[in-house]
Amino acid sequence: MKRKPEPFKIKMVEPLKMTTREQREEALIQAGYNPFLLKSKDVYIDLLTDSGTGAMSDNQWAGLMLGDEAYAGSKSYYHIVDAVQDIFGYKYVVPTHQGRGAEQVLFPNLIKKKGQYVLGNMHFDTTKAHIELNGGRALNFVTEKAFDTTTYYDWKGNFDLEKLENFIKEKGAEEIAFILMTITCNSSGGEPVAMANLRAVSEIGKKYGIRVFIDAARFAENAYFIKKREEGYADKSIKEIVTEMFSYAEGFTMSAKKDAIVNIGGLCGVKEDEELFTAVRSRVVPMEGFVTYGGLAGRDMECLARGLYEGIDEDYLDYRISQVEYLGERLREAGIPIQYPTGGHAVFVDAKKILPHIPYHQFPAQVLCNAIYLESGVRPVEVGSFLLGRDPETGEPLESPLELVRLTIPRRVYTNDHMDVVAEAIISVKDKAASLKGLEFTYEPKVLRHFTARLKPIE
Ligand code: F0G
Repeated sequence: MKRKPEPFKIKMVEPLKMTTREQREEALIQAGYNPFLLKSKDVYIDLLTDSGTGAMSDNQWAGLMLGDEAYAGSKSYYHIVDAVQDIFGYKYVVPTHQGRGAEQVLFPNLIKKKGQYVLGNMHFDTTKAHIELNGGRALNFVTEKAFDTTTYYDWKGNFDLEKLENFIKEKGAEEIAFILMTITCNSSGGEPVAMANLRAVSEIGKKYGIRVFIDAARFAENAYFIKKREEGYADKSIKEIVTEMFSYAEGFTMSAKKDAIVNIGGLCGVKEDEELFTAVRSRVVPMEGFVTYGGLAGRDMECLARGLYEGIDEDYLDYRISQVEYLGERLREAGIPIQYPTGGHAVFVDAKKILPHIPYHQFPAQVLCNAIYLESGVRPVEVGSFLLGRDPETGEPLESPLELVRLTIPRRVYTNDHMDVVAEAIISVKDKAASLKGLEFTYEPKVLRHFTARLKPIE
């Protein structure tokens, strides 16, 4: 595949330490075979997440100096308001410290009674947690095609509309708190949702009187896929596509640490419902900060306002999506099974297919992550049974439908040569796959175990 060149040049560099295999072996033992516990100084290429790890532009760094630190009525806040009205067509917005901050100021206003359902294509972990903390139940309705990793499908983030509507009919609309459309769908591979699907979900919402919202973390990448893949959008600008996408919801939560290319920040937007916005604002003050800063410094807001425009720049998106695709193609050529086609922000490697001899309760995807780190200093992240945890009632280990290694690509940070290092590391690990051993716990915390658990190889 021909690589699309970077539409930027490098003005500042951050040196990386090159480590030896012996150093990485030691680092992995110290980290209890859990990449979350590695020190970043021991990591060469960090693909743990694309969240808050992007590189800001000179324009954003200049904005940092111009940030207005007024407690109330900051100019930088109004730059965000202007950008949100211009790009999304929404009247109201509050900043928050990050995406989960937006979740905690919005969701309690929507979940009216215990046990109400929140229907999504696939909820992100913190999103699910905020739904559950507010007494709701988070359910996923992503298309079955998302689970067939090797078969091509344009829209592996889509809702299964029939399943969604049948569920609403079965339970009754009053049991549904709201519908949340996550674009792109992180958990299925950063896979896009088609405009037609967003529109259809919004129509189902209207038909049954259920409110529809967007989890907008990777909104620009989703818009790019619509432009490239969906009939009727090739000649529209990314901004026009974004405006249409957001017309199908009445509000959004956003982690600005992804497509707005800032290191910290989030937003909660409301299209026009003043009453809802008032309710959101009255939660922002005690939870995040005054309504015109929401937990952010003025300089962070200034960078965010500028980043919203940089994230929808077409030359940037062309390069961005093609870098992820390039890594995916290199792996596919070498016979490595991945979620195909690649999505917007990451390549997801199907570890179950590479390590069929390791059962789910010995965490094949975590084993693969560690082997990749040992080989090259590249740090991926596990998305599988290790992350999923145990059944809260029975304590039994849960089996994830997919055991994935996520190679999450930070924005504007690594070059295509870095992508080659990643590809070559995984290719050489695949050749040693049969010799890799499963993992067992030496320490397992009760909740959110994947962040702090310690493991060792089973001899
Ligand atoms: N929604 C989605 C779809 C996300 O991917 C994330 C974060 C959040 C909400 C929460 O946002 O971190 O700013 O509070 N995803 C990161 C990841 C952490 O690695 O995928 P946050």
